[in-house]
Amino acid sequence: MTDYLTLVNQRHPISPSFRDTIELVEVAGVDSVYRVEKKTAEAFYALKKGLQEKGVIIGADSGYRSVRHQEKLMADFIAAYGEEYALKTVAKPGTSEHHTGLAMDIIPMVDGAWVNENDDLLKQPEVFRIIHEALPDYGFILRYPKGKEAVTGYSYEPWHIRYIDDIAIAKEIFRRGITLEEYLERTQSD
Ligand code: DAL
Ligand code: ZN
Repeated sequence: MTDYLTLVNQRHPISPSFRDTIELVEVAGVDSVYRVEKKTAEAFYALKKGLQEKGVIIGADSGYRSVRHQEKLMADFIAAYGEEYALKTVAKPGTSEHHTGLAMDIIPMVDGAWVNENDDLLKQPEVFRIIHEALPDYGFILRYPKGKEAVTGYSYEPWHIRYIDDIAIAKEIFRRGITLEEYLERTQSD
């Protein structure tokens, strides 16, 4: 069974058996086809439709990544931006939430063009406010919120969303402005 609340971060690498618990399906992305976990894909399409009704167009820009894929991504980021920036924005292979198939990067279309550079995405707070507000209704949370860098280990990523398959918990996480780490810590100590 898929553990939709599984925690994968710098201190918790993906469990080697997790891949056996998910079914990956294809999702048509902005300039490529991605694979994501089946219910995550369904929730993504529902989110996309709901946002479209609010006048916001989103597209998939990343989904499931194998450890090998993450290795290449890390090498590309180090080559392009240097090691310090790469380590703040790309997870070390084996510790990326993208290995779960439950995480996606989503980007908006603004004035008819996809916004896909990290710096440009950070200049779209109003569009992302609408997107983030909608996420819990579809069982998604924002995984790397602003101001929580010390908890998540990563810079603010308005584009990285995580499916948790529980609308009530997603709404609680959003309402309280907490991270998955903080939510699980709370429930674990209950
Ligand atoms: N950008 C996130 C941290 C990842 O590489 O998984
Ligand atoms: Zn991501």
